[in-house]
Amino acid sequence: MTANTRTDAHGVDLDDVGTNDSPNPSFTDLVASRLSRRHLFGLGVGTAGTALLQACGGGSGGGGAAFPILPPAPAPAPAPAPAPSPTPLKLGFNPVAKSLADVVTVPAGYTASVLYRLGDPIAAGVAAYKNDGTDDPATYDRRAGDHHDGMTFFGVNAANKWDATSATRGLLVMNHEAITPLFLHPAGQTIVSGVRTVADEVQREFYLHGVSVIEVNKNGNAWSYKQDSSFNRRVHTLTEMQFSGPAAKTDYLKTKYSTDGSKTRGTLNNCANGTTPWGTYLTCEENWAGYFRRIKGTDDSKRSMKELASFGRYGVASTGRELWATVTPDTADGQYGRWNTEVIGASATDDYRNGHNTYGWVVEIDPFNPTSTPKKRTALGRFGHEGACLGPVVVGKPLVWYMGDDSRNEYIYKFVSTKNWDAADIGGGMASGDKYMDDGRLYVARFDEDGTGVWLELKLGVNNITSNYDKYAFADAADVVINARLAADAAGATKMDRPEWTAVNPKTGDVYVTLTNTNAASRPIDKTSASNPRYYDDQTTANKSQLGNPNGHIVRFADENADPTSLRFKWDVYLFAARSTASADVNLSQLTADNDLSSPDGMWFSHAAPGLLWLQTDDGAYTDVTNCMLLAALPGKVGDGGAKVITNVDTASSRTRTQNTFVGKAPGTEGLRRFLVGPVDCELTGIAESGDGRALFVNIQHPGEGTSDIAAPISHWPDGGASRPRSATVVITKNDGGLIGL
Ligand code: FEO
Ligand code: CA
Ligand code: CA
Repeated sequence: MTANTRTDAHGVDLDDVGTNDSPNPSFTDLVASRLSRRHLFGLGVGTAGTALLQACGGGSGGGGAAFPILPPAPAPAPAPAPAPSPTPLKLGFNPVAKSLADVVTVPAGYTASVLYRLGDPIAAGVAAYKNDGTDDPATYDRRAGDHHDGMTFFGVNAANKWDATSATRGLLVMNHEAITPLFLHPAGQTIVSGVRTVADEVQREFYLHGVSVIEVNKNGNAWSYKQDSSFNRRVHTLTEMQFSGPAAKTDYLKTKYSTDGSKTRGTLNNCANGTTPWGTYLTCEENWAGYFRRIKGTDDSKRSMKELASFGRYGVASTGRELWATVTPDTADGQYGRWNTEVIGASATDDYRNGHNTYGWVVEIDPFNPTSTPKKRTALGRFGHEGACLGPVVVGKPLVWYMGDDSRNEYIYKFVSTKNWDAADIGGGMASGDKYMDDGRLYVARFDEDGTGVWLELKLGVNNITSNYDKYAFADAADVVINARLAADAAGATKMDRPEWTAVNPKTGDVYVTLTNTNAASRPIDKTSASNPRYYDDQTTANKSQLGNPNGHIVRFADENADPTSLRFKWDVYLFAARSTASADVNLSQLTADNDLSSPDGMWFSHAAPGLLWLQTDDGAYTDVTNCMLLAALPGKVGDGGAKVITNVDTASSRTRTQNTFVGKAPGTEGLRRFLVGPVDCELTGIAESGDGRALFVNIQHPGEGTSDIAAPISHWPDGGASRPRSATVVITKNDGGLIGL
């Protein structure tokens, strides 16, 4: 979600509250860096082309099924994929100009059509959405949620099974991260003296978060969703979920709802996504902390020092961003009171003092089984999960997921399964998840100043993660995954400029991570690092100063020997976002008017065109000039640029300071081009393609969210006229039926 300046109606910063006060090096505290080109370029990482079956995020196959396409289960173990065609890819469209218009703009020769909007009905008999706040709350479990986000297309064959090759029929599974409350009710949220007084409004909001599963079909050249498909499903904040992995059935997860800590209700703030090679969807819980009510003064004395440390480190510190806990009377099953973390009863099974521990996870959903119970996979750690990108999938090798924790100064993680991949598990649903995702090793990244890095294991007894750690006395394996941020602090991870999406290049195995932006408080000029190297003043056209790293960058790394289980990697910065008019030490990637951007967030490699990267922005810095956008890129590989010394300038104090870094080869217009600009005040996020790559699905989140007067929305997209704006999925096709972007 937009993060630079926005707070919600209650003054709660919605996205990027930094809670990392650990002394971990984000930079120069690291001892005398040895800038060594030999070190950076000498690790001998070769291409992994024959082994790569990677797919995360928006995959046509949902995972592991892109190179080559894997059949649905039962399937023999796949042979190694053939090397991709040596024909170099070439971007084949004219760049779209930056724009402040309230429309979706795509290049000449392309068509963008609205597919699935906030409130659209997904069951027979549910009426069209009136979009005036008067729809029956009881229908919202069968309507599209708000704030469309991370998304995957799972092809479906005639036998109703997963088939990654399907070009005409699929399940589109997408996150609904959050809500724009003003547009959901007759006149915004009804709040009297800090209390939500209309329970029906809150019920609507419960259902508008979570995940959609919808069947989509191509008829002729047009895509539509099937309103009465038996696959259609909403997962929301009231959906029962099981816990699995090290934290399941431990005291930390016991609540009045689940006295043995085996389950919880719902998922929340589902941001980016991920996939599995067996054909399920991963939804990632990002800014969940803000939804919980925490009354510090009266509750502190009832809490242990460890509990207080955990609350602080995760930012559970507000009255709750939508004030859900304030509704009275509560329902018999505590639908409102569950958002209140106060100690009320005699024990943890009498209240929701542990409610916050039941959020912050990667959640697996089987879209092919509408009655299956989603599982929160605790082995992947609890933090502000942006996404979980599956790494290269190789038969007989462990599976790997790369994950960002999106808050200021947070970390980059990876999870490596204990079990080796067996393609016979394709189609195995949640049972395959039990096999690969509940047992493994969780690591956090340390980016060293010499262009190399180390994966630090988060496990009791290693890397300072012990009962003697001075900030937090770790007790057991469940404590480590529940408090993964504290464990990562103890291990000495590197603080990054808000890790958003992760993506793995199928041609090289390189892992890309968008670092969307940060501010001067979190990244002052004397706290830059080689991997987060810039401090500058991004002046708006109205001469407003924006200090820190307000435009963000994209770091990438290559695990040693092209082996994702390696504990070492080398890295560089693929791309520095900037205004094309910025100085050379800010516009380090030499962006032009055709490809300049700010705040990269969504990011995904195409399956149909291996090597084609899509970038999406969630920007609040460059919005004096342009709305958020989607760009197509053809990146090279780690080490294709070189070492560089830049000069950072603090216009506030007139200080300058040099910083070493490693800059990827400048992309030029041949390597990076703006493909789409969205409507007013939106975010571009979530991307997927049909099995043949000839339909691209893109989410437009929260158009017009900055509106303060319900009678005068600043966007009317997509319905036009005087309508309220709606988050929506758009499908893009090329008029000649070709691959998108090429
Ligand atoms: Fe939900 Fe980090 O964006
Ligand atoms: Ca974001
Ligand atoms: Ca995001």
